[in-house]
Amino acid sequence: MADRILEGYAAAAKTLRPRYDAIDPALYYAAVLAHFPQKPSQILDIGAGTGRDAAWLAGLGHEVLAVEPVAAFRVGKALTWLDDRLPDLRKTRALGRTFDFILMNAVFQHVKPAARAAALRNIAGLLAQGGRIVLSLRHGPSAETRRAYPFKTGEVDKLAAACGLATLFQCKRRTVGAANKAAGVRWEFMVLGWAG
Ligand SMILES: C[S@@+](CC[C@H](N)C(=O)[O-])C[C@H]1O[C@@H](n2cnc3c(N)ncnc32)[C@H](O)[C@@H]1O
Repeated sequence: MADRILEGYAAAAKTLRPRYDAIDPALYYAAVLAHFPQKPSQILDIGAGTGRDAAWLAGLGHEVLAVEPVAAFRVGKALTWLDDRLPDLRKTRALGRTFDFILMNAVFQHVKPAARAAALRNIAGLLAQGGRIVLSLRHGPSAETRRAYPFKTGEVDKLAAACGLATLFQCKRRTVGAANKAAGVRWEFMVLGWAG
């Protein structure tokens, strides 16, 4: 696997899986739900974890590709999985297709700041005209074994603009989990789309 963060996730997967699956996506994404596709669409879920959101979206009639590098998360549900990772998304890009909607929840903090421009460029290359990206940004401390690199104010807006993407919406997201709340972890949602 050769990535300490992914090794950290693999080691904790048994504990994390039920925690992730306990989340109700419709409630969790309520603040940004208006930006989710309203008609059957091609969706990419990057860092999909257990596939909770991918399964929910597939159940709503969308065609979903769940990209997840940790094998211990790619279990169970009848989903289309791809073992791929940021920043390169090499296998995903090799499919030669684009997506109407890209979800990247609680993942971007694991990409080193120096690699974020390339990651976002690769993600933008997978976004269809008129498409939307919903991502979340984590602020505050992280587990030692699943390091989260901090975000500078305005960093993602600037990186997005360099790819031709605009920030269409941004809001706070509530922190899930007592330990994260106690540690002062804060989250934001961002919605990106093609500028102009
Ligand atoms: C906090 S979990 C979130 C999982 C899922 N998106 C959710 O909302 O439940 C972070 C996920 O990002 C994945 N991940 C970590 N580094 C990654 C990378 N470089 N590329 C793609 N996924 C990554 C982890 O394996 C894990 O599944």
